[in-house]
Amino acid sequence: MAVLSTLAPKDLLVLASCALTLCVLAYRAWSQRRLLRARAGTPPNVLPAAKVNEKDREPGEWTPVAFDYPRLEPHKEHFSNVKPIPYRPFKWGDYHVTMGIRGMAWDEWIELDREFPLMHKVADYRIRTRGDRLLSVHPAQPGVVDSGHAAAEELMYELSEYLSRRHPDVYKVTRRAVSKNREENGWYGEGKIKTITIIPFNETYDLEKEEPLKVSRMLMQEDFTIMLEGSDGRYYLQAGAVVIAGSWRLEDKMGMPLEEIHTSGNVPQYQSKLQMSMERYFRRLPLDKPIVRNNYAVQLVQEPEMRSPAPAPGSLLDVDPDELAWAATMNGSEDTNDFERAKHINDQVDNATTSVTDAQNDKGYPASRTTTPATPRTVRLRTERQTLRRLPRTGAIVFTIRVYQTPFEELLREPGVPGRMASAIRSWPEDVARYKARDAYEGILPLLDQCHAEQVAKGLVSEEDKKSTFPF
Ligand SMILES: *[C@@H]1O[C@H](CO)[C@@H](O)[C@H](O)[C@H]1NC(C)=O
Ligand SMILES: *[C@@H]1O[C@H](CO)[C@@H](O)[C@H](O)[C@H]1NC(C)=O
Ligand SMILES: *[C@@H]1O[C@H](CO)[C@@H](O)[C@H](O)[C@H]1NC(C)=O
Repeated sequence: MAVLSTLAPKDLLVLASCALTLCVLAYRAWSQRRLLRARAGTPPNVLPAAKVNEKDREPGEWTPVAFDYPRLEPHKEHFSNVKPIPYRPFKWGDYHVTMGIRGMAWDEWIELDREFPLMHKVADYRIRTRGDRLLSVHPAQPGVVDSGHAAAEELMYELSEYLSRRHPDVYKVTRRAVSKNREENGWYGEGKIKTITIIPFNETYDLEKEEPLKVSRMLMQEDFTIMLEGSDGRYYLQAGAVVIAGSWRLEDKMGMPLEEIHTSGNVPQYQSKLQMSMERYFRRLPLDKPIVRNNYAVQLVQEPEMRSPAPAPGSLLDVDPDELAWAATMNGSEDTNDFERAKHINDQVDNATTSVTDAQNDKGYPASRTTTPATPRTVRLRTERQTLRRLPRTGAIVFTIRVYQTPFEELLREPGVPGRMASAIRSWPEDVARYKARDAYEGILPLLDQCHAEQVAKGLVSEEDKKSTFPF
């Protein structure tokens, strides 16, 4: 106080505003922590006894580890009452390529929400009509890496254990008798799971008879790949079930090491910014530290009434009009090879007068993106929630991908989102913009600006929001 009395009024003002800033910062940190805690649910349980020293093993070698998944709390809500998580993982200001990873709470490995029935229907359709190309186990590459077979089987059992404990109101299992051999049992020494039923769908899978990749994929909303470490220390895609990737095909990536998956997909700045840290991360990923990250893309789709001719009943576009499975409006046919596709898109761009009908190919896909106008109904935000977890018996890394798609007409109403989205889209450097096909939907930017201005006028966003470091 004595100090205060010696200060001039001007200094007092400065001091007061500093104090206020501190309060604001403290409040922001507090509410951010609260949000994170709310998302993280219950804190992870005590870590298991078995710890593996990752540095002690030779590349490609793995000794099966006895690992108990931390005990799970059953989810409080039935999935039909759970809204999809509204990830908005983009930031104001400059563009930075980062891995953007955070620790995953054990309770949140696989999330179920009210879109499960619809996504299940799409996955079922895809597997029935195209399964041999969307689900596969890659054979061993002799001297380099094992086949993904054992890991695919391990994953199926892990998922069945996890899901039936996390959602006992959705999944029901039958088990074999407890074996004396610990390795033959399920989690916590219970008998090995024999069958699993998705109760609301009245669907039962026999784990001893059915294709593991198919069972795993049908049990959840996620796509996944299984990566195995090779004797050269690289991680190879040796199995996967990728049925709603939208713009890439599992068959093009099968058997590839991590860096080739990205460079063959022309992921901008992968080699310069990501490759080293990504590879290190995979090699060192501990058994007891699963991780999660998000990313996003913008997708253009046709409105159902614009489709001419209308999709045939029972066709993919009839089952999946939102183009979750395959981004037909942006990428054309799923079966066109890359060279044909690139040529086709270039032709379309050169010839903006081509009508939608002219541009349709034999599958009824609209091939031209230039003729699909970018409107709040045709532009979608496509976000992904991805997790990485190492499996204890095979040492394989499972990469899961949950896709969420939101029309821009919904985003426009979310406070702070239109301005942040416009800022993010504008921040992409040329290579990223090309990769994300910005030219197809940049027509939406003025509308985002307008909504942002309206939100500012209504006091829904402030300059403070632009400094927010909580991007989800
Ligand atoms: C569930 O499926 C089984 C076998 O597929 C069938 O016998 C049974 O009637 C079905 N139950 C319901 C409630 O649909
Ligand atoms: C689909 O389109 C996106 C955006 O233009 C592009 O990055 C991707 O490579 C395309 N996928 C295929 C398989 O052509
Ligand atoms: C471009 O448009 C012209 C005039 O309509 C047409 O003759 C030509 O075939 C089109 N080219 C392509 C590649 O669609």
